[in-house]
Amino acid sequence: MTFKTEKIISLPKILDKRGNLSFFENDKQIPFKIKRTYLINNVPGGEERGGHAFKKSQEFIIALSGSFDVVLSDGEKEIIYSLNRSYQGLYVPNMLWRRLENFSTNSLVLITSSIAYDDNDYIRDFIDFKTLRNEEK
Ligand code: TYD
Repeated sequence: MTFKTEKIISLPKILDKRGNLSFFENDKQIPFKIKRTYLINNVPGGEERGGHAFKKSQEFIIALSGSFDVVLSDGEKEIIYSLNRSYQGLYVPNMLWRRLENFSTNSLVLITSSIAYDDNDYIRDFIDFKTLRNEEK
């Protein structure tokens, strides 16, 4: 099952006896222009990050090291994506609720976003999110 709008994207992987290389570019491997990149690390066992939706921001989320789950919700059902490869990421469109959980020790999250940081883009209340989703229909 998927929400149809999100997707796992496999990045190119250039294998080399000196080590592997992967990359992504605006509008090529990922379907938006990157305006911002941020990292999450040092997450204590049992902690969660996220727990909100974005009105406009689209994101691409990679487990650069370790593993964690990205839980997406459309307001009705949840889908869990487990990320644990540095050459694979999850594209998350705007207007899906998302939280990150189940972090392994030493996990390192890389997130690229289609917009600059804007607190007004956050929907932090799940009921508000459901209301806005229903208005979109
Ligand atoms: P937030 O996105 O709320 O983290 P989480 O959803 O994982 O709980 O961000 C936490 C804090 O970091 C918040 O005070 C805003 C700040 N922040 C920035 O200044 N720039 C950014 O790009 C991000 C993602 C967060």
